[in-house]
Amino acid sequence: MSRKPILAGNWKMNLDHLAGLSLVQDLGAALADKDHDPSKAEAVVIPPFTDIRTVQVLVEGDKLPIAWGAQDISAHDDGAYTGEISGSMLAALKCSYVVVGHSERRQYHAESDALVNAKAKKVIEYGMTPIICCGEALEVRKAGKHVEHTVAQIEGALAGIDAADVAKLVIAYEPIWAIGTGETATADDAQEVCGAIRKAVEKLYDAPTAEAVRIQYGGSVKPGNVVEIMSKPDVDGALVGGASLKAGDFADIVTFYQ
Ligand code: G3P
Repeated sequence: MSRKPILAGNWKMNLDHLAGLSLVQDLGAALADKDHDPSKAEAVVIPPFTDIRTVQVLVEGDKLPIAWGAQDISAHDDGAYTGEISGSMLAALKCSYVVVGHSERRQYHAESDALVNAKAKKVIEYGMTPIICCGEALEVRKAGKHVEHTVAQIEGALAGIDAADVAKLVIAYEPIWAIGTGETATADDAQEVCGAIRKAVEKLYDAPTAEAVRIQYGGSVKPGNVVEIMSKPDVDGALVGGASLKAGDFADIVTFYQ
């Protein structure tokens, strides 16, 4: 398998730019201490919008082996959309990745699959890589509908995106019941859905596209469970919330391969 693991820290609405600066400094030092080899795994931080410029300047200045991204994007181009952040603004800050469709955006901002699709297309249009989130609530899992629910979200999110772009993007499977709860899906649970997503991509596109797309698991990933989760064939990385706010823990997660 030639997919490079991607370990991304979603800071959510935590850390002002000074606290963000200090976390990235500490993360850089922790990765150096652990002799992190960037050819083995990609480290990404996804701070709030207000921290992105600070993170960019630090990472570029110190040549840290860390990419950065944003937690959301506007589906519109620059213009009269008060409070929104455009793709051109994020591209100007050299964001590599943009998270779209996180369950917290779907839940608190009523984001639909159609809006997630529009945002994913905007990310691609501005030359960045979407991390498209999907995942089921507890009731859906209890009803045994988690695979079809998640696959339907992905079909909606990918509508009209061509195979070459899909091959380069990242999908994050985050069961809602495992987010911030300490409740982790088992590695087999993660594999079941990540495998089903890959099959769905193959059906929608073709085998090479499915083989190339990277699929992360997210939900209470920690240094103590990352190795087992990453041992699964269709899991290519992790989208990490809480544990990404501690430099040492996130460095351990990024260097899971050691
Ligand atoms: O996007 C990451 C996420 O929702 C998982 O959060 O705190 O359970 O690692 P956490």
